[in-house]
Amino acid sequence: MTTYIYPGSFDPVTNGHLDIIRRASAMCSKLIVAIGHNRQKKPMFSLKERIALLNAAIENIECNQNIEIASFEGLLATYARKRGATVIVKGLRAMSDFEYEFQMALLNEHIDDSLETIFLITNIKYTYLSSSAVKELAENNASLRGLVPDNVIEELEQKYGRRLSNAADARAANH
Ligand code: COA
Repeated sequence: MTTYIYPGSFDPVTNGHLDIIRRASAMCSKLIVAIGHNRQKKPMFSLKERIALLNAAIENIECNQNIEIASFEGLLATYARKRGATVIVKGLRAMSDFEYEFQMALLNEHIDDSLETIFLITNIKYTYLSSSAVKELAENNASLRGLVPDNVIEELEQKYGRRLSNAADARAANH
């Protein structure tokens, strides 16, 4: 049994993350999607909200029985070991991600040299996507068409206290 761990801030989860989750879950016996705290970021969505958003979003992934949504504090490598995960999965969107991810992979290997990091190339449709971009688009009432799952659109509408323009359009793009 191989357990993979896919860590991230997921603030909020996007269709880019879901693409990685779907593909990674097909490569292992169990995939732990682990929401971690990035000290440099102040999240818009609470941990509880991010867990709920991820749980609802993976409902739409076929064969999702081996996916678990979890959260951790402290070092990823320590949490991975505690959970029996031997492989860290990360998505690579562009070369700009590489330098940071390379450093993280080496640090994680330094902490626990039995841990491997593998990178999945992000689907071309999502290479320009990030959670910050989603929040900025929502704040400025721009279209989220094809970028996030429906439940995230609903939560963003609640946060901003208004319907997002093109929300119906964005929902249609998800179906
Ligand atoms: N599609 C779309 N967007 C993607 C993506 C994909 N496939 N993959 C990443 N992103 C985006 C995310 O939305 C996020 O956007 P944002 O910066 O606008 O929020 C960005 O890429 C990178 O975020 P993410 O992959 O979630 O990682 P992160 O840099 O926020 O790190 C942890 C989060 C939890 C993985 C990291 O902080 C960590 O490992 N913490 C534990 C401490 C530790 O062990 N440190 C290492 C040793 S010191």
